[in-house]
Amino acid sequence: MADTVILSGIEASNALYDSLHARIGALKEKGVTPGLAAILVGENPASQIYVRNKTKKFDSLGLKSDIYRLPEDTKEEELLELINKINNDDLFHGILVQLPLPKHIDSQKVIHAISPSKDVDGFHPENAGLVSIGNPRFIPCTPKGIMYVLKHFNVPINGKHVVVVGRSNIVGRPVSVLSSLKSMGNATVTICHSGTPDLKEFTTQADIVVAAMGSPEFLDASFIKDGACLIDVGINRIERDGKSVIVGDVNEASVTGKASALTPVPKGIGPMTIAMLVENTVLSAELSTN
Ligand code: GUN
Repeated sequence: MADTVILSGIEASNALYDSLHARIGALKEKGVTPGLAAILVGENPASQIYVRNKTKKFDSLGLKSDIYRLPEDTKEEELLELINKINNDDLFHGILVQLPLPKHIDSQKVIHAISPSKDVDGFHPENAGLVSIGNPRFIPCTPKGIMYVLKHFNVPINGKHVVVVGRSNIVGRPVSVLSSLKSMGNATVTICHSGTPDLKEFTTQADIVVAAMGSPEFLDASFIKDGACLIDVGINRIERDGKSVIVGDVNEASVTGKASALTPVPKGIGPMTIAMLVENTVLSAELSTN
């Protein structure tokens, strides 16, 4: 049995925050406080927690963050008007519309409405396009956090085989693009998803598996090769022994001893997503002052 190293997102995110203090200080000297507008539509309990955790971090770093809470039945037009108003407000360098949105609102239309220069989620087609040609401005926060963790813990990626399970615009697709870019990963990449027959055929070849399918504890030891590094992006709430607990997409107990390393849930990729949102907002503030 090999030792499985735990790749702590708390440790890696603290290293990033250490490097951000000087950048935040330099902006403050110019009279600029990086500011985030977070928009939350409806009552989705998980979204409420995510947005609160994000803005709490901004507060603790002395940054500006406002939450705009809109009711579930908000009209698409009203949301677009609010985004337009914040696009033109110099106090905010970043705009985050928490997803998912209620079904009657077209998410793509909303993402298109955010000014690409304030799109700290990196979801606007202009920013997604810049990532895909290897010239990124705002990289989506979770994929950016994954790449940071791999680098922070010296997990080799150059020339390795990365298998991504999940093809969402938020995680799976951008992390597959980043891993393949010569400048960021230079890996060989396979993207699998819910329509992939015989998923194990692919995951058992991987040096690094990014599990982003949203299935609690799905990925067990039978899916991986000895010594694989596992990046667990899942945040799933399940009932266990009569208690509500959060688990990832990886079955930690099963892979421990077979995987060389894994990101835990919680305290793995979750804190990295928040850290990268802060970094993207600081970057946006820097770009606005140049
Ligand atoms: N929902 C799940 N992850 C994210 C994210 O990174 N940003 C936004 N805006 N919504 C999300």
